Amino acid sequence: MKIGTPLSKSATKVMLLGSGELGKEVIIALQRLGVEVIAVDRYDNAPGHQVAHRSHTINMTDGDALKALVKLEQPHLIVPEIEAIDTNMLAEIEAEGLAEVIPTARATQLTMNREGIRRLAAEELKIPTSRYAFAESLNELQMAIDGGVGYPCIVKPVMSSSGKGQSTILEPEDVSKAWDYAMSGGRVSHNRVIVEEMIDFDYEITLLTVRALSYQENKNGEVQTVFCEPIGHKQVNGDYVESWQPQPMSKKALTRSREIAEAVTGQLGGRGLFGVELFIKGDDVWFSEVSPRPHDTGMVTMATQAQNEFELHARAILGLPVDTSLREPGASAVIYGGLEKKGIAFTGIDEALRVPQTDLRLFGKPESFARRRMGVALAYGNNKSGNSIEDALKRAKQAASMVKPVSE
Ligand SMILES: Nc1ncnc2c1ncn2[C@@H]1O[C@H](COP(=O)(O)OP(=O)(O)OP(=O)(O)O)[C@@H](O)[C@H]1O
Ligand SMILES: [Mg+2]
Repeated sequence: MKIGTPLSKSATKVMLLGSGELGKEVIIALQRLGVEVIAVDRYDNAPGHQVAHRSHTINMTDGDALKALVKLEQPHLIVPEIEAIDTNMLAEIEAEGLAEVIPTARATQLTMNREGIRRLAAEELKIPTSRYAFAESLNELQMAIDGGVGYPCIVKPVMSSSGKGQSTILEPEDVSKAWDYAMSGGRVSHNRVIVEEMIDFDYEITLLTVRALSYQENKNGEVQTVFCEPIGHKQVNGDYVESWQPQPMSKKALTRSREIAEAVTGQLGGRGLFGVELFIKGDDVWFSEVSPRPHDTGMVTMATQAQNEFELHARAILGLPVDTSLREPGASAVIYGGLEKKGIAFTGIDEALRVPQTDLRLFGKPESFARRRMGVALAYGNNKSGNSIEDALKRAKQAASMVKPVSE
């Protein structure tokens, strides 16, 4: 393993496709290891643009534009941070040997569409998931529900993220509204949705799973799979609002979760960190979906782990050893924009940071929307009494609520 000097001929170059708050932290982790980083996003001054060696603004679903940029910058590694990329072009770039795609071009193809990853997990790997079906019209959606998915169920565009276009159907009257809503929230203009049985889980987790080179004797150079402590989280309208680590679990449920995560990430292949989303009820575990990259709920690891999820991703993709151990329990709570405006400011940061054992990340996004994630509050450490996770969550929420977006 060799890392060169940034901005010289020997540089080790990594291109981030998507440079939001998660990409920004991956860039910082890579820069700390002396990597030259090129940040790409669809809008100017994205969070990651602000900390990279160079930045570009292109439409990443435009394959020609993407390939031209890769030829111009000649990165060694391409690290997708978002799903909205021309993943067929990534496969072409990988096949032509222009760059290595993290974790693999195939993984980005399978996970950008809910159908690919769901069929792989449920039909090929026989992993338990919610009952599901696909539909391309209101009529097909109704038939899918009547034909086995049942009520209550959840409808999602096959290509969408962060809960966009996603809604719950409790009874027949809700079906057409859910269809219309899905049509308004998909990423590309094609009418396919997945309808899933609603799982009545006790709690849900993200199991951060790392595929990294092993440095154990006899296994030198092989890819091994290691796990972070499970992260519990709360979602509102399909978007994460709070997370905490570790999520207490039964031994059986944890073992089962790790088996599922290892099987799914093993099928996707390559090196890197994955966020495996699972639903848990008692000792039963259902696979939901997987991100072949750091996960938003995993921002809590910036407060809890010796190597946070971004550092783990950076190390794994560079072929370096990783350490997934938990340092102390902690929690995260999202800070929303609250207003619709460019160039906002934040007040109350001093009050927020007076909450003991807390930290903040403000992402520096150029434009605020009411429900746009603009920052995150982090809390760590055991308090003297009671449940340390509850306590950390309370402090994270308290700190987040004190940060007030103002119009400048
Ligand atoms: N079949 C289901 N049963 C119960 N709850 C579900 C189901 N599908 C989704 N949910 C709830 O909705 C949340 C978001 O769903 P999902 O992860 O599929 O959407 P997403 O748009 O990919 O969100 P993100 O990009 O934030 O991960 C889940 O974390 C879970 O809380
Ligand atoms: Mg999800």
